[in-house]
Amino acid sequence: MTRSNPTLAIACAVCMSVGASLALAQQAPDDGPRYVDGTNLVLPDNYREWTFLGAGLGMTYAEEGDGTADGVPGVGSQLFSNVFVNPSSYRGFMETGVWPDRTTFVLEFRQSASEVSINEAGWFQTELLMLEAEVKDARFPDGWAFFEFGRADDLADAAEPLTGERVAPCIECHTEHTAVERTFVQFYPTALEAAREHGTLKPGF
Ligand code: HEC
Repeated sequence: MTRSNPTLAIACAVCMSVGASLALAQQAPDDGPRYVDGTNLVLPDNYREWTFLGAGLGMTYAEEGDGTADGVPGVGSQLFSNVFVNPSSYRGFMETGVWPDRTTFVLEFRQSASEVSINEAGWFQTELLMLEAEVKDARFPDGWAFFEFGRADDLADAAEPLTGERVAPCIECHTEHTAVERTFVQFYPTALEAAREHGTLKPGF
């Protein structure tokens, strides 16, 4: 009959847990997407500490747009759009020109203002209007998913991946007009340089 040695068992458990925490400490922090209920993206509440890719002012997507707020009723001023990406994916892109799996993008729309305080001309950013997101993740059928977190006064904590008619325009525009994969790298100056260097721009860019 064999009996386990309790001292040995405890020593082993201690050494395994030390080993596990060492391994954890050596891993890069996971700043990729977090999901609830399978594939509902949790709004990354620290996205403002992520890497800033670029901003647009009054950019219209559709030809009939007027630069104020496509799909945002009741908004008069030109909108700023700010794009953020999780930092580890940005580093990966700068090294390869390709977005790593689990890259997460946040697109924020903000109102603009002028002639306030010392400012006499030009535009600066004011209140948050709404948030959208996009994830490159192999867990989705074609490797990408799009999300809407809604308007700032009623932001969702988590959003389900858009499907059907709601996602069709996102996919179409983000496939036909994007410089790298499904992303508008042509508008993000440092990423554009990296894509040029690594030869990952689509033909025509
Ligand atoms: C007609 C074109 C068009 C459509 C439709 C569109 N986008 Fe975009 N999207 C853009 C452009 C242009 C940018 C560049 C960033 C900017 O606006 O400053 C962008 C940027 C983004 C980004 C930042 C990362 C990237 O891909 O460059 C996210 C996230 C995003 N869009 C989400 C969405 C979602 C979600 C939908 C659908 C609900 C959508 N977009 C529909 C044109 C489009």
